[in-house]
Amino acid sequence: MRVLNSVVALREQLGEERSQGRRSALVPTMGFLHEGHLSLVDRARQLADLVVMSIFVNPLQFGPREDLAAYPRDLERDLALAAERGVDVVFAPSAEEMYPTNPPQVTIHAPRLSDRLCGRFRPGHFEGVLTVVAKLFNVIEPDIAVFGQKDFQQSVLIRRMCQDLNMPVQIEVAPIVREADGLALSSRNVYLSPEERRAAPTLHRALRAAQSLVAQGETDAGRVRAAAHEVLAAEPLIQTQYLELVDPLALDDVQQVRPGDVLALAAFLGRTRLIDNTVLG
Ligand code: PAF
Repeated sequence: MRVLNSVVALREQLGEERSQGRRSALVPTMGFLHEGHLSLVDRARQLADLVVMSIFVNPLQFGPREDLAAYPRDLERDLALAAERGVDVVFAPSAEEMYPTNPPQVTIHAPRLSDRLCGRFRPGHFEGVLTVVAKLFNVIEPDIAVFGQKDFQQSVLIRRMCQDLNMPVQIEVAPIVREADGLALSSRNVYLSPEERRAAPTLHRALRAAQSLVAQGETDAGRVRAAAHEVLAAEPLIQTQYLELVDPLALDDVQQVRPGDVLALAAFLGRTRLIDNTVLG
């Protein structure tokens, strides 16, 4: 596995691979890898000859009161896990390498899709995500990029960016990986106290309650949301930030549930904000 920190070195290496006709798949990450990220590597491996992983905690997607400084980092461990899982090239740039002209004057906005769900509570977050992903696409020129369904809104925005800006990257979205008790894997799970960790699977239980109502034939979005809400409300350690049932392209609220609609939520357990979602129908 090659580890590169500079754009010039990376372009040189990947240019050579491309000239030999090798198709590449990118797995963009912010590091502190867990099985969720590694499942994206497995998917990338199935789809391409060369698996490239980026590890970069992107300052542009953190708000002024968010956890940029405290965001968990362990590059050495990440590199060992990536190598073990079969990543071919890791790109791990510094903030100066990614943003030599800081702050960038040209960024990517998608206000209509960004102001929904998580974006409503994290102004500027998706502008930061889209901008760094566009930069990674420009530097790496992958054929495919693999993202996780846990960041549902992010994947919708990135797909739309590729469509609207003619970026020739195939976007793949891999399923959420969960602990045995249902908690979706997240780098932020390490922040949870033991009591919060015990309460955290309630998020998944709430989504499952909604799913089973839909499986019984319920199509009224209000009732489906209420079923999930009831489960969340019964856990005093959870403060729900949003619980919304949306269509998977425009992210508009739906009144009648159709197959493919997504129930998405964000909730605080103490100071830790977790997200989760499920596809209904
Ligand atoms: O999903 C993430 O970890 C990040 O938002 C991403 C896509 C790597 C961009 O920084």
